[in-house]
Order: sequence, then C-alpha cells, then structure tokens
Amino acid sequence: MSFWSALWPRALTTKRLEREKQQIAAQDGPWTAHNIPLGHGLTTMGVQRNYDTAKLELCMKTIAENAGKPIAALRILDLACLEGMYSIEFARFGAEVVGIEVRELNLRKARFAKKALGLRNVEFFQDDVRNINHHTYGEFDVVLMTGILYHIDQVDQLPFLAAASDMCKNLMYIDTHVALTPDREFTADGMTFTGSEWQEFAPNATLAEREKMLWASFENPKSFKLSLPSLHAALKHVGFTATEVLPKIDKQPADRLVILAKK
Ligand SMILES: C[S@@+](CC[C@H](N)C(=O)[O-])C[C@H]1O[C@@H](n2cnc3c(N)ncnc32)[C@H](O)[C@@H]1O
Repeated sequence: MSFWSALWPRALTTKRLEREKQQIAAQDGPWTAHNIPLGHGLTTMGVQRNYDTAKLELCMKTIAENAGKPIAALRILDLACLEGMYSIEFARFGAEVVGIEVRELNLRKARFAKKALGLRNVEFFQDDVRNINHHTYGEFDVVLMTGILYHIDQVDQLPFLAAASDMCKNLMYIDTHVALTPDREFTADGMTFTGSEWQEFAPNATLAEREKMLWASFENPKSFKLSLPSLHAALKHVGFTATEVLPKIDKQPADRLVILAKK
C-alpha cells in the first residue's frame, strides 16, 4: 500500500463495487429500505429514490435548520441504523457519526457503503440499543432515533429514552409509530404512560429466525407503542425542554410521526 492510498483509502472501482454489492445481496439478501448512492451512478437498491429518500431529506433539512452548527461540526448518533443510510449521508456532509445496529446482516451492508464511499468519519457498532450509555459511546449533538422506539418493550421505554437523552447535548430526532387508540397503561418514575403492545415474533422464535427478521426487535417478542401525549411527557421527563411534531411528508402513515426534541 502506498503512502497516499494509506492516507486516503480510495473508493472502489465501478466493477468491484457492483461485484461486492451483488455478493452481499446473494449472501444476505437485497437491501430492504436504504437506497444509498454509492458513486459511479450506482445505488444500493438500484433506484433513483424511494420513500426512505424522502424521510432522509426531511431529517437532513430539520437537523441542518435546528442544530445551530454546520453539519460538518456535529457528532451524531444513529440508533438502530439498519443499512446505514442516515449515518452515511450525515458522514458525507462531514459529521462524525456513530451507527449502532443489533443485526450483523444489516451492518455488513452499512459497512459496505462506508467502504464504497471511502468514509472515515463514520463507525458502525454491533450492539443492542438498550445497552447504550455515554460511558461507552460518549455524547452527541444529535441523536437519531428513527424506526426503533416502537421496537422496544414497555419496561425499557423510559430507560431507553433516558439513556438516549443522557447522551444527547442538543437535538433528538424521533421517527416512530404511536398508539392512536391506546389500550394499556404502565407506571414508571411515578408517572403513568399509555399506549399499546404488539407482537414482533413468536416467543419461541429461534436465533436464526430472529436474525433474518431484519426490521424487527431482536430479543423482546413484544414491543410497545406510546401514545403521543405519553411520548411528549416521557421526552420532557428525560430532559428535553421542547418537543415538536413535524409536518407529515407524502405517504406517511396516520400513526407514524416525526418529533424533534430539543434540550
Ligand atoms: C424498522 S428498522 C428502522 C431502521 C432505520 N433506523 C430507519 O429508520 O430506516 C428497525 C431497525 O432496528 C434494529 N433493531 C431492532 N431492535 C434493536 C435493538 N434492540 N438494538 C439495536 N438495533 C435494533 C433492526 O435490526 C432494524 O435495523
């Protein structure tokens, strides 16, 4: 390896990129949601854009307008990063990004995009988001909590939000399903929260089966969707001073909301 290639690892050539992409898809299955431009006119899903592209655009715009610093000056935590689209995009704009994901199959795709683009300012770690704390990962200007809160069990809702808040210096961006007709309540820290429970997988599902359910929770067979008033209350309780529901984008389901929480 030459001095210069050690200093600036070059992005892959088109042919090698396409070959590696096909190898990953053959081994692990195709990309499921994150259509990441890889350079050379290639994208992970082979399309120009999809619904997740619009979600990413809303996220980038919201963070750029509210962070109070250029994206390149931000440290960002991407919780349950799936195939890495949010992490990669913020890293392409110069942010220092940490992506956390429980499934190796998803991480292989995220790490492939990082390598394809020659990015050095994004790291992906295999971990359960319920384990996160600032001792392990440090503090962040922005925490992205997209598509994960409703995969957390009732008992871990508040501890998970509290740990994420503890690591967050400024903004938390939450994209989640909420319970529109809550039918359960639980008490934590002396407060009552409402929502509804839902089944992710059969309690006797094997590890091999759960590893292949690429969007699901990993260990908890049941998860919990908070109601919107409870989510606002929980966010305030764990240290955010303001919470705002963002205007909906095209095709956003009725029970899906994006919330920007500020310290
Ligand atoms: C619906 S996908 C959302 C992914 C991505 N954040 C997005 O918004 O496009 C849920 C992701 O959470 C991951 N996941 C589920 N439970 C997890 C946990 N306890 N710890 C870490 N990742 C988890 C899944 O593997 C999957 O990648």
